[in-house]
Amino acid sequence: MTPKTIIEPFKIKSVEPIKFTTREEREKLLKNAGYNPFMLHADNVLIDLLTDSGTSAMSAKQWAGIMNGDEAYAGSKSFYRFEAAVNKITNMKHIIPTHQGRAAEKILFSIVGGKGKYFPNNTHFDTTRANIEFTGAEADDLLVEIGKHPAERADFKGNMDVEKLEDFIKEKGAENIPLCMLTVTNNSGGGQPVSMKNIRETKEVCKKHNIPLFLDACRFAENAYFIKLREKGYENKPVLEIAQEMFSYADGATMSAKKDALVNIGGFLAMNDEELAMKCRNLLIVTEGFPTYGGLAGRDLEAVAQGLEEVVDEHYLQYRIKSVEYLGNKLVDAGVPIIEPPGGHAIYIDAKRFLPNIPAEQYPGQSIVCELYLEGGVRGVEIGSVMFGKYDENGKLIPAMMELVRLAIPRRVYTQSHIDYLIEVIIEVFKNRNKLKGYKITYEAPMLRHFTAQFEPIG
Ligand code: F0G
Repeated sequence: MTPKTIIEPFKIKSVEPIKFTTREEREKLLKNAGYNPFMLHADNVLIDLLTDSGTSAMSAKQWAGIMNGDEAYAGSKSFYRFEAAVNKITNMKHIIPTHQGRAAEKILFSIVGGKGKYFPNNTHFDTTRANIEFTGAEADDLLVEIGKHPAERADFKGNMDVEKLEDFIKEKGAENIPLCMLTVTNNSGGGQPVSMKNIRETKEVCKKHNIPLFLDACRFAENAYFIKLREKGYENKPVLEIAQEMFSYADGATMSAKKDALVNIGGFLAMNDEELAMKCRNLLIVTEGFPTYGGLAGRDLEAVAQGLEEVVDEHYLQYRIKSVEYLGNKLVDAGVPIIEPPGGHAIYIDAKRFLPNIPAEQYPGQSIVCELYLEGGVRGVEIGSVMFGKYDENGKLIPAMMELVRLAIPRRVYTQSHIDYLIEVIIEVFKNRNKLKGYKITYEAPMLRHFTAQFEPIG
């Protein structure tokens, strides 16, 4: 038989209890947190969907790897296992460990960035953008048009607009573009995948102008699985081979191992260019550590190596992608507006359509985030005008392009009944949406205000 029920492809060996609180308790806790769930103590959260980064459950083999870690300062055997595991997927000549994704970005852009330089991407993740802008360079998003329409379904809404890229290169000059990036999957655009065809076409444009192509590869395995499901010609290919083909078009990659390497900390830089690799290693020694450990312990390298083997397992990926899709489809069936189709690692609620009566100035996404916690102890994150809003010279809010609430699903952590509970909570909040209030900010930091801002409900 071909079973209809997709089960978690693991047994649970070790458990971490979660704490139940009452609505009255959560009302107090949220008020004390200034209505900003970032300020909650995590043990007062029942289902924590703040991020899928560093929140994976490690396997028994990864924990065994932790014990096997070789902590030699130089030439650790754990490094060579890590290097071989990354090389198997990327086939890149130079593999440089870092303590997480943004450390890889910091090193790369410190070397190739600077004033007058431009970096195109389908959509830069915030830390990538920040690391580019910090050097004085410009970060540009060239996402395909369909990727900007949350209610429309398409297979590859994370694709680069290749024509725009071509025009962009002509306008800025290839000599001012040290590299081009593709973020797979596109986190900031809803966790939407990039097709193999698009990776290939992006590479052709880059090659014509002699511009290296780098992948922001955090969620490469989820992207590869979407290619298998949705792109003609890949339905019978093993995911590992699909991933290898994706990397074959790239000249380098940055990676946060906290996502698709199934670990709690780690990352790397990979590339073929020998001279660039030498510069990166030299900077790595100043900022992260010796090139055979980066900012990591030997045991962390073991866990990454093992995680990279496990993440391309197709039973795992089927469970992963299907459980996010299950959540998304149940919400769509109940009329809850989300970015469609569901992404790889998260569901993004469209707060503009969820709360059409609450204007951007009153932060509809924040209102939903607060209510999800009050209703069911669920923690998500606002990705809208709290996170990306700016002020004009008269102090008036310039809203973000979209008002979203991200519910990111940690890997291998929650079971189907957790997801069913989550669906109940979201639908309940949706039913009561007319009772939700807007929020005003009572304190904000000059930069990255969403982490520490304090709010009050209006009225
Ligand atoms: N690139 C992408 C696409 C990411 O999603 C992240 C992190 C990074 C780079 C940076 O990696 O955190 O290891 O330094 N995303 C997390 C998130 C934080 O919640 O989406 P890092």
